[in-house]
Amino acid sequence: MRIDIMTLFPEMFEPVIATSIIGRARAAGKIDIRCHHIRDYTLDKHGRTDDTPYGGGKGMLMQADPIYNCYQSILLQLGGKKPHVIYMTPAGSLLRQKRAVELSRLENICILCGHYEGVDQRILDEIVDEEISIGDYVLTGGELPALVLADCISRLCDGVLAEDICWQEESHSEGLLEYPHYTKPFSWNGREVPEVLISGHHANIDKWRREKSLEKTRRVRPDLLETAPLEESDREYLHKLEEEGQ
Ligand code: ADE
Repeated sequence: MRIDIMTLFPEMFEPVIATSIIGRARAAGKIDIRCHHIRDYTLDKHGRTDDTPYGGGKGMLMQADPIYNCYQSILLQLGGKKPHVIYMTPAGSLLRQKRAVELSRLENICILCGHYEGVDQRILDEIVDEEISIGDYVLTGGELPALVLADCISRLCDGVLAEDICWQEESHSEGLLEYPHYTKPFSWNGREVPEVLISGHHANIDKWRREKSLEKTRRVRPDLLETAPLEESDREYLHKLEEEGQ
């Protein structure tokens, strides 16, 4: 997987993508993430990349041309192979794990980060395949969202996490929130690890974890229960919680 990022602030990326799991995966050649400075592609002699909006209104908009030139240079590097182009915007569709899994199967992704009041609509019409939001709140630019997306996709790529099971078992991959985890020591600040986890009885442990997932999802994200793949035993447990008034 190669991810190309078009941004006016490339310096925001390097510290993050050079660190920890993503940094190691890049060093090992499992993923290739490259940043491109849109300002390097403006033909304006003052290095300008933005201008005021037609029709009036506050703020500045990123111009189409520098982004287009930047994109053409990426296309050239990819030997003309068109990447899937994503624009990060609070007006996009909400990023979900299911979409991240689909995106992780693509070979080339190119992410455009907006800044200021946004970008000229014509560049979106010309090159963008999909608009993604990372949540219903507004950030100062698309750089942090692009990092969130790149991280979320990268860890799903083959060989990035130690074992695929790591991401298949966690929150959101099965439509439910994850159960709680405990490590040593057994007793900490007067709080003990639930007995079932040291029982060695795997069926009981699985059952306990499933129930804790259901309880947490019901409490924090009840909306997820409408689409999560639930077994008959899950429904019975949820019904029991309902009856107990929990
Ligand atoms: N740019 C600004 N806010 C954003 C958000 N919530 N998601 C994606 N891009 C953004």
